[in-house]
Amino acid sequence: RGARAVEPDLAGRHVVVSAGGTREPLDPVRFLGNRSSGKQGYALARTAVARGARVTLVAANTGLPDPAGADVVPVGTAVQLREAVLKAAADADAVVMAAAVADFRPGRYAEGKIKKREGEEPAPVELVRNPDILAEISAERARPGQLVVGFAAETDDVVANGRAKLARKGCDLLVVNEVGERKTFGAEENEALILAADGAETSVPYGPKEALADTVWDLVAARLS
Ligand code: CTP
Ligand code: CA
Repeated sequence: RGARAVEPDLAGRHVVVSAGGTREPLDPVRFLGNRSSGKQGYALARTAVARGARVTLVAANTGLPDPAGADVVPVGTAVQLREAVLKAAADADAVVMAAAVADFRPGRYAEGKIKKREGEEPAPVELVRNPDILAEISAERARPGQLVVGFAAETDDVVANGRAKLARKGCDLLVVNEVGERKTFGAEENEALILAADGAETSVPYGPKEALADTVWDLVAARLS
């Protein structure tokens, strides 16, 4: 698509984007985390600003510079990300969950740094489930007609797994990335298949994360009007 004429087709809209990866603390100096860079979420925020939207970017541990024109809400854990997304979603036209949310967190947080002891095996780390934010906001839309978009990385049976996940989550659109060589975490480019609850299927060729972001907003804008 290359040089795309930017039309303010999201003017007057409020969109919420989550980006990055949550960190679930074990003690004051350690956490369970993931390798999400946050770049796709930031590309979504930048392109939405360019298309005229008011943008709230809920950013989990990205270390990236704030995109100009977006309201950035920094968070650490999945529980904090849920709070921030629910709050911003209250008056949002669309919510895009690009963040990698940890499925589990340590069941116990040690107030002091965990120390090793001579001749003792480490205690196992017990995990508990985190809330499923995408499923929750899909089930309880803060406003009628609010659009909810999820992301998923799948290694095989991309369409079948994607369709099943879309139905399970109850969202309107699911952006499915096929994980493989080239398509690694932190990469500048992406390739994806976007599945819609209305049956539409849009394949986005390998290219910059901005191009994928613009395709997501095309699909969102078409369904908002
Ligand atoms: N997600 C979420 N809350 C969670 C886990 C995931 O909101 N606790 C969102 C992610 O932001 C993403 C989508 O759900 O938009 C899909 O994430 P994914 O990890 O692929 O889905 P899961 O249901 O966790 O499935 P899996 O068991 O394959 O990890
Ligand atoms: Ca998961």
